[in-house]
Amino acid sequence: MQAAVGTAMDQRVFRDTLGHYASGVTIITGADAEGPIGFTCQSFYSVSMEPPLVSFSVMTTSTTYPRIRETGKFAVNVLAHHQDAISTQFAKRGTDKWAGVEWLPTVAGNPVIAESLMWLDCEIWAEHEAGDHLVVIGSVKEMSPAEWHRHEPLLFFKGRYRHLRDAESD
Ligand SMILES: Cc1cc2nc3c(=O)[nH]c(=O)nc-3n(C[C@H](O)[C@H](O)[C@H](O)COP(=O)(O)O)c2cc1C
Repeated sequence: MQAAVGTAMDQRVFRDTLGHYASGVTIITGADAEGPIGFTCQSFYSVSMEPPLVSFSVMTTSTTYPRIRETGKFAVNVLAHHQDAISTQFAKRGTDKWAGVEWLPTVAGNPVIAESLMWLDCEIWAEHEAGDHLVVIGSVKEMSPAEWHRHEPLLFFKGRYRHLRDAESD
């Protein structure tokens, strides 16, 4: 059997290679004394069923996450197919990320973006340093009801927003 031949580590190549992992797109939101806050986040995944845990990674340079941490809680908003402009808007630091965005508060007070695909409301359960990111684990306390789930997902693949070609819903 022939050995698989790889490419040596290089940051640009690493980024491009990881870009082949297709994912959904989320906005991690919270609210502090100054109002709603949030940032675009692709690195979301489910961790545990019992207890129910989810996770995301955030850059140590994020200006939004330290404010979310202060509140001890956050919401995950998984974006729907038509929300790519919201993803772009929440990835820009120092702008009014909430301009033109409709939202509702969860029972815990975190903002849920209208028309999202699904949402989860969480308490911060753990945080781990990992290189230039923090791995944040959340304990899920509330989630979108079944009747909320009426859209197709927004996808991110090779640096671009994508949509399901097979658009049949189930
Ligand atoms: C599609 C997409 C996915 C992103 N995923 C992440 C992510 O997983 N973690 C992260 O820290 N930043 C991610 N970003 C970048 C942040 O959204 C951006 O750096 C952040 O909004 C900076 O603002 P802040 O200083 O207010 O946190 C992503 C951006 C885009 C466009």
